[in-house]
Amino acid sequence: MTVPTAIITGAGSGIGRTIAERLAADGMAVLVVDRDGGGATHTAARIAAAGGQAQAHAADVADPAAMAGMAQAALDWTGRIDTCVANVGIMVEGDILSVSPEDWDRAMAVNAKGGFLTARAVIPAMLAQGKGALVFTASTVALAGMKGVAAYSASKGAVAALTRQIAADYAARGIRSNALAPGAVRTPLSESQFRARAADDAGFDALMAQVIARYPVPRWGTTTDIAEAALFRATDRSAWITGQVLPVDGGLLELR
Ligand SMILES: NC(=O)c1ccc[n+]([C@@H]2O[C@H](COP(=O)([O-])OP(=O)(O)OC[C@H]3O[C@@H](n4cnc5c(N)ncnc54)[C@H](O)[C@@H]3O)[C@@H](O)[C@H]2O)c1
Repeated sequence: MTVPTAIITGAGSGIGRTIAERLAADGMAVLVVDRDGGGATHTAARIAAAGGQAQAHAADVADPAAMAGMAQAALDWTGRIDTCVANVGIMVEGDILSVSPEDWDRAMAVNAKGGFLTARAVIPAMLAQGKGALVFTASTVALAGMKGVAAYSASKGAVAALTRQIAADYAARGIRSNALAPGAVRTPLSESQFRARAADDAGFDALMAQVIARYPVPRWGTTTDIAEAALFRATDRSAWITGQVLPVDGGLLELR
């Protein structure tokens, strides 16, 4: 019997780890991909301990050969790629005047080109199957402005455009493409961003509280909030939805 198979990038930590665990709990074999091989191995071990199927795979999404190798690893393992969650993202802070051209390139290479290379690696197998679902992790900054994240925001805007473009190009051949636009989710990425800005623990707690104050649903997002939305977009539960960027943001964009 064939096992539905999912690739999750950036699954060695944070949101990607919980998405990998959620899809595995739903019965998918999960290829856990991360540049940090130790993180990927840890996620795969957690899935196996919970009774799921997972393999760790170390790869950098900015490297075309590594992305081709990632798709091949999934095909060698189960023979299928039903779902790919292109979740990797790095934060680059700064407005147009303070962000360096090098940091702009880094945001684009990982967040935008990384999404392109991930999709490019998995779409041939999905076309051969006549079916597949891509889910990108964008951000609310792909849909609305926020101070001080010019390069990050532009790179996530590119992810949203790529999501729609793939949907348009491949809808008739069975491939759906959607994105999630998370608001503030407590993960190693968001915590390190706020730790860097705070002088001490009290300052960190105050900054974290300030973020929540902007949210109609008054709490930080959890990785589970995002993983449930990813599961919906990654499976036939959302068979007639494609090209959409779904805010998962405690009402921030619609209600503020
Ligand atoms: N945390 C938030 O508040 C938030 C909000 C909106 C969007 N997002 C997006 O969600 C996604 C996941 O964020 P997170 O908070 O879980 O981050 P995280 O830093 O906890 O996890 C990201 C993972 O990606 C891996 N990674 C980084 N660069 C890589 C590369 N080039 N190749 C392969 N792996 C790489 C890291 O090793 C890490 O394991 C990102 O795309 C991020 O932009 C996060």
